[in-house]
Amino acid sequence: MGDSYDAIVIGAGGAGMMCAATAGKRGRRVLLLDHAREPGRKILISGGGRCNFTNIHTAADRFLSDNPHFAKSALGRYPPEDFIALVDRHGIAWHEKTLGQLFCDGSARQIVAMLLDECAEGGVDLELGGSITEVDHSDGRYRVTFGDRRFEALSLVIASGGPSIPKMGATGFAYDLARRFGLKVVEPRPALVPLKLGPGEALFTSLSGVSTEVLARFGKAEFREAALFTHRGLSGPAILQISSYWRHGEAVGIDFLPAQPPGWLVAAKRTTPRASLRAALAGHLPARLAEALAERVAIAGELANLPDRTLTEAERQLADWRFSPSGTEGFAKAEVTAGGISTNDLSSRTMEARRTPGLYAIGEAVDVTGWLGGYNFQWAWASGYAAAQAL
Ligand code: FDA
Repeated sequence: MGDSYDAIVIGAGGAGMMCAATAGKRGRRVLLLDHAREPGRKILISGGGRCNFTNIHTAADRFLSDNPHFAKSALGRYPPEDFIALVDRHGIAWHEKTLGQLFCDGSARQIVAMLLDECAEGGVDLELGGSITEVDHSDGRYRVTFGDRRFEALSLVIASGGPSIPKMGATGFAYDLARRFGLKVVEPRPALVPLKLGPGEALFTSLSGVSTEVLARFGKAEFREAALFTHRGLSGPAILQISSYWRHGEAVGIDFLPAQPPGWLVAAKRTTPRASLRAALAGHLPARLAEALAERVAIAGELANLPDRTLTEAERQLADWRFSPSGTEGFAKAEVTAGGISTNDLSSRTMEARRTPGLYAIGEAVDVTGWLGGYNFQWAWASGYAAAQAL
């Protein structure tokens, strides 16, 4: 028999560290395992090294899941204010950047150090840099082989994240483990990821480096933020956001002029009759983009010589430009993984598997995916905290 714990948490990312620390501080004996040599590697690279650790506008409708109600309970019981209070208690300075996104003034390392301090306070044992070769469950106990050691516990928490950015040590381990214990997995797909443009949109790849504010739409989802043309397609916050909703074979709608009121082009004809469409667009868009769009809309000459209905039709086209991405840049470039361990098989209050007592899943491993902007960490903290209350 190996060392015995109340709980073993697999994965020392944001969710696993929060869960282990909270359970430890509640008096549980907790072991936290990770195959990486250092904990919280995604925290370290997040938010350009400053970690966008939460969003003050957190609400369940800013998360994607097959069950849109699932995240409500955990998010409600560990709101952003609770994490801000923790950050404040550790003396970490922070600021709001935009759209409710909170970042460290200093470095993401402070968040990892804070979580490690919390784990130490909770007496958590941390073991890094070994492989988990065996996990089994018998006589009401989970047994885990880590390197050449064996550990056992009453509860096992899957906190090993999703497969986005494999070069950071991300794996599909959570899904394999969940399936072995009879839990379903909603098909994982790259999310918050740049979109690639098909050959029909080749003109736009020449705009690599151009950025502009757009309104990106897919179904009922819409995001008004910056879009960036890349040599492979489209990126920037508006595109990353919409990529989480986008499905293969479907088109994304882009309004290139979200700040312009309806009828602006006809109004421009009255105020600047000698201008071309390109010149009218260049008043509101980067010159290269104005040129490319004018070329595509293909109406030549001065605005004064164009009928209002032609201008109204051009305006409509520019407000709902249809792109058919050929794909995404995949897990290698995806900030998160959408899909994951099915929420149908988990309790929304405790994150415990409904039919496998003592087994829990938290964080990105679960089929809950937040918007860009600190939502994914808030889910990691909240789901980790929820499970810790039940351990
Ligand atoms: P996470 O992936 O962080 O942790 C899982 C842990 O399990 C890892 O330590 C891994 O090594 C370990 N593991 C995996 N397989 C294992 C195995 N087989 N055996 C043992 N251990 C294993 N979010 C946000 O809210 N604000 C932000 O600013 C950013 N920025 C950002 C930038 C970049 C570049 C990326 C890739 C992602 C972000 N995110 C983000 C998303 C955020 O990083 C992500 O949602 C959380 O880190 C998920 O936390 P988890 O703890 O669930 O998984």
